[in-house]
Amino acid sequence: MKFFVDTAEIADIREMAATGLLDGVTTNPSLVAKSGKHFLELIAEICDVVEGPVSAEVTSPDAETMLKEGLKLSKIASNVCVKLPLTKDGLYVCKKLTDQGIKTNVTLCFSPAQAILAAKAGATYVSPFVGRVDDIGSDGMQLIADIVQIYKNYEHFKTEVLVASVRGPSHVVAAAKLGAHVATMPPSVIKSLLNHPLTDKGLASFTSDWAKTGQSIL
Ligand code: E4P
Repeated sequence: MKFFVDTAEIADIREMAATGLLDGVTTNPSLVAKSGKHFLELIAEICDVVEGPVSAEVTSPDAETMLKEGLKLSKIASNVCVKLPLTKDGLYVCKKLTDQGIKTNVTLCFSPAQAILAAKAGATYVSPFVGRVDDIGSDGMQLIADIVQIYKNYEHFKTEVLVASVRGPSHVVAAAKLGAHVATMPPSVIKSLLNHPLTDKGLASFTSDWAKTGQSIL
């Protein structure tokens, strides 16, 4: 399973990249607004830090402008992945960009039917939002299960399932059990994957017992 970090904070991205466990980055207009940075400069900066795909989202609703935005974003760096909304115009632009060999991430996916359309449009990734589905009382992980199952039925569907709106480790584990290709997570969730009280307790006792030996490995 690939791990992407879902943030526009460059310090967080640098910290995650330094772990060697980071495969890519996703941003969205809300995260960019929160960062206070100039969007195009920020994407260039992120692409310098991370080798894997960096999702940068278009902001215009109509296909003509969206296509121009997507082409402009794709020229920032070879690892830019153009993020497009799951709308009629977004899918049209997805097909156009895919035909030119540009990576795409079709976002705001909330149903298996929408995910089928994203695959037919040739999206590199589809982003179903598990947390936001859970928030309205539905089952976000069932959405992932449905999409993974459907995609497996069709060899020519090459789209990867990028689990988004991830709120905690249980989402990540459940998505991995289903075989989802990627999870994008806020830095706090990536860090929380590491934590277990028995690891801390076990390490403390190994450290104190080792000290009693008076030895040193080096
Ligand atoms: C995905 O690409 C989105 O940026 C993100 O996962 C949305 O998460 P949220 O529902 O926590 O805003």
